[in-house]
Order: sequence, then C-alpha cells, then structure tokens
Amino acid sequence: MSPHDAAVGQPTTDRPLTGRRVLVTGASAGIGAATARAIVAAGGRVALVARSQARLEELATELRALTPVAPAAPAVPGTGGGERGPGAAAGAEDAAEDDGPARAGLPADAPDTVGAEGPTVVVADADVVDAEAARAVVDAAAEQLGGLDAVINAAGIARPGPVASTPPADWQLMLDVNVRGLLHVTQAALPHLTAAVERDEHGRLVRAGDVVNVSSMSGRRVGSPAMGVYAASKAAVHALSGALRSEVGDDGVRVSVIAPGFVRTGIFEGQDTDAARQLGRKGEEVGLPPEQVADRIVEVLAAPPGLVHVEVAMVSVDQ
Ligand SMILES: NC(=O)c1ccc[n+]([C@@H]2O[C@H](COP(=O)([O-])OP(=O)(O)OC[C@H]3O[C@@H](n4cnc5c(N)ncnc54)[C@H](OP(=O)(O)O)[C@@H]3O)[C@@H](O)[C@H]2O)c1
Repeated sequence: MSPHDAAVGQPTTDRPLTGRRVLVTGASAGIGAATARAIVAAGGRVALVARSQARLEELATELRALTPVAPAAPAVPGTGGGERGPGAAAGAEDAAEDDGPARAGLPADAPDTVGAEGPTVVVADADVVDAEAARAVVDAAAEQLGGLDAVINAAGIARPGPVASTPPADWQLMLDVNVRGLLHVTQAALPHLTAAVERDEHGRLVRAGDVVNVSSMSGRRVGSPAMGVYAASKAAVHALSGALRSEVGDDGVRVSVIAPGFVRTGIFEGQDTDAARQLGRKGEEVGLPPEQVADRIVEVLAAPPGLVHVEVAMVSVDQ
C-alpha cells in the first residue's frame, strides 16, 4: 500500500494509531527511536523527546518522508486535534498565504520543525531530569500536535558496576533519569492525557489516554550483580506504574509497563568499565531487536480503550 492511500480519518487494521498523538522520550536512539518509527507507521503522530537535537531532527526528517500526505483533511471523529488528521495537509491554506512552511498557529519560536504536511512529527529536545524543561516540552508538544493521547517513557540509562566500586554519581544519574525523569514527563503529560479522554453517552471509554513506561526485566528480578542500582531504578518504575494505574484509571488513563530483557541498542556504549563491556557484548549476542519491543508498544496503544496491558515482559528465546 502506498502511504498516500492511507485513510486520514478512522483507524484501520494496518493503521491502528490513526488520530493518536504520542510523545516519545528517548526518541533519539534505541527503543525510543524504533517506537517512534512504529507509531508513525501505524498512523500516529509523534513528538520526539531526547537531548540530542541533531539526531531527533534526522529521525523527524525520516519519519516525515514516511508520513502519508493527504490532499485534504476531513474531520477526525473523536480527535481532540480538531480538523487535522494524521499526515493531513494541516494548515495548508494558511501556509499558502504566507509562503512559509506550514507553521500556522504556532509561535514563530516554537521549538519544532513542522513538515509541509502539518505537525505530524514534532521535535522537542530536553533533558528529562530538568523538571521545568520536561514540562515545557510536553506542553509545547501537546500544543503543536493539537493534544496528547499517550506518552511513552523510553528515556533511560544504565551505568552498571558493583556497589563496592561504582562512583555514587553513576547511581545518582541512573535514579535521576530512570525515575525522576519519567515522573517529570508523566506529571506534565497527565492533564493533556485526561483532557483527550472521551466517553460515549453510557460513560464507556471510547478514547483512552496511555502512559507506557519502558522498564526492564531487571525491574522484576535482578539479573546481574553489576545491575543492582539499575534494577532498583526499574523496580521503582514498576512500583510507580502500579500506583499511577490505580490513581488515574478512573480518569480513562491506562498505565502499562514494558519489561524487556536484553535489547540490541547502544545503551552500554561509551562506558569504560568491564561490566558495561560485558553487558554490551551480551546484548549484541542475545538482545531482541528494538523493533520487536516497539511493535509490542504499538499493540499496547492499539488495545481496545477499556483494556489495559498491565505489563508486557519479553526476552529473546536465547537469553
Ligand atoms: N537495551 C536494553 O537491553 C534494555 C533492556 C530493558 C530495558 N531497557 C530500557 O529501555 C529504555 C531505552 O533504552 P535503550 O536501550 O533504547 O537505550 P539507548 O539506545 O541508549 O537510548 C536511550 C535514550 O534515552 C535518551 N536519554 C538518556 N538520558 C536522557 C535525559 N536525561 N533526557 C532525555 N533523554 C535522555 C537518549 O537520548 P539523548 O542521549 O539524546 O538524550 C536516548 O534517546 C531505557 O529505559 C532502558 O533502561 C533497555
């Protein structure tokens, strides 16, 4: 199917995320980047969050080339974003008036580049450890996408090492990014997610919000002595996700945990320790491709609105 054949209104089997606006942290690499690709392929609109603006811009350019461009934008039923469908020619008329790129309705200094087809892919660079920066990019992304239906917390780091010899700054960094960063983004996203929730006249959920937290198998059991603090940070993600699920379920927001074992990404790269080198090699040998994790995340987002995947845990068969 040509991407130009894609419907711009209703979700279809091959584009189950049509009309959904998703913010992905950790989108500059690994699981987050693969997830952003999978979401756009499934018809969704994405805001890409990480610190490396250049890598986000590169991914955004790639994704905009995939994004279906529709000649016209019929209303998208149930989409808080109003008249603009995914990949639709949003703002086309306004853009024609000023000859500029289609940034209609956006502040001139919006921290985004917007494709000619409309704001289907938004770039928002920030360090999630900085609470104010996290809030600012979440708010800006929601404004530019016309709302927010889901947040995927995939930003994370691993600094493996024995407790006896690891520099405390490494523990601090892991807990900051993996726990506090996730909380900052989630807290900022919640008002946008609840605002996008829709129910029918019987009160049944027809459009849910989603918080998808990328934890780890290490959050369920400690797999390696060098991974104690990382595992503690991921156990915290499991615990916080469970608590948040009961906190916001009645508001129509689903909270899911993704718990992969080794995934073939660069998470251990650039670290000059035996533990990181050893775990990096293991990841290369037995890790799942990040695309397979991304596909599970799309399944979680595409589930019927009243169904929440509490946890999706996965490992490669040879791990
Ligand atoms: N790889 C595995 O074996 C594995 C297994 C289970 C779970 N996980 C989890 O999966 C998630 C993604 O990991 P990955 O393997 O895809 O790692 P990765 O390839 O190293 O990607 C990590 C992403 O997080 C971003 N990030 C790191 N610190 C950040 C910060 N302070 N603010 C904003 N963004 C930040 C990075 O972007 P910038 O550097 O541009 O900021 C990058 O986009 C992590 O939570 C990790 O714990 C990984």
